[in-house]
Amino acid sequence: MRKSMVAIAAACSSLLILSGCSTESETATETAAPAASGSAAAAGTQTTTTCAPGDRIGVALPAQTSENWTLAKQLFEEQITAAGFTPDVQFADSGSSAVASQQANADNMLTQQAKVLVIGAENGQQLGSQAEAAEAAGVPLIAYDRPIDAKATDYYVAFDNFKVGQLQGQALLDGLKAKKAEGPYNIELFSGSSDDANSAVFFGGAMDVLQPKIDDGTLVVASGQTDIKQTATAGWKAENAQSRTDALLTSTYGTKSLDGVLSPNDTLARAILTSVESQGKPLPVVTGQDSEVESVKSIMAGKQYSTINKDTRVLVAKAIDMAKVLQTGKTPEVNDTKSYNNGVKIVPAYLLPPVIVTKANAAEAYANDPVLSPLTK
Ligand code: BGC
Repeated sequence: MRKSMVAIAAACSSLLILSGCSTESETATETAAPAASGSAAAAGTQTTTTCAPGDRIGVALPAQTSENWTLAKQLFEEQITAAGFTPDVQFADSGSSAVASQQANADNMLTQQAKVLVIGAENGQQLGSQAEAAEAAGVPLIAYDRPIDAKATDYYVAFDNFKVGQLQGQALLDGLKAKKAEGPYNIELFSGSSDDANSAVFFGGAMDVLQPKIDDGTLVVASGQTDIKQTATAGWKAENAQSRTDALLTSTYGTKSLDGVLSPNDTLARAILTSVESQGKPLPVVTGQDSEVESVKSIMAGKQYSTINKDTRVLVAKAIDMAKVLQTGKTPEVNDTKSYNNGVKIVPAYLLPPVIVTKANAAEAYANDPVLSPLTK
């Protein structure tokens, strides 16, 4: 069935001979553009390829630092299978070997002849050789959720993460105002792991909203720690956010009240709240991201103030759509061709809209989510 609809572009076709797809060659009247040296395409032979159902799609995910990655693995496996391909979905190890383990996973997927490679980067600056290997094998590379700093990255699919940061910054302001009509408000800032390129994007978006309010005195970062290096949370680990909060409370909030905290995600938001609670202090307004089950419960209980809905089901479906289109040698749809400059080129991206969620709109935001919707009743 796929045979009639699939005519792999020259860039892919020559390599598919090597990678196990069945091919039919015919002499072309025009010479197809060569994708790699020594290829059938380079020799002027047009190859029509029928990539068999069952071909592998490799998905290399980072370490499981938050629920969204666990859900992504399950959904990629289900949806790649449902689309008629074979999923090869692997997490990176957690801890200090995470980068090396993701590199090994991606290398292995290429050895196993994956036809498309999707990577949720552990560290987007450490995937250059995997990206080059994918390019050399004619395997399209999609950066999933986190940008990859490599020339050979073909596409990026994610929620609009700068917008995520802006929504977090605005939620912090709204939450503070709802609690106490007038400032100044004492706040602290947290950002994600510095090896995840998204961390700076979230922080940049949030500061886009918060910096003017810091400048006009409405917000006071009482610790003085406003530089992203000071606010970073290594490995996105809850224990690191918790110990930094412990330290801040001791150093700065002996008598002052901590009114609000910018937290880049839910795992860290709960760690921050745990620290404050364990010191018996009033809970500050705390932002989050990911709509993790425990955080949605916390929001409904009036503890965490906000989260972001970046529906993993939608993001995975989008990545698989892109992989399917690429697998046929066609060009997938993108909606952003300016934001993701990795230093060498602007990676064409498809960005989905994130949604801010507080107790006020949770029922509506999760109305079609069978896991989260019951928590909002
Ligand atoms: C993702 C977030 C997630 C964080 C930690 C980021 O790159 O975009 O959704 O909370 O990584 O896993």
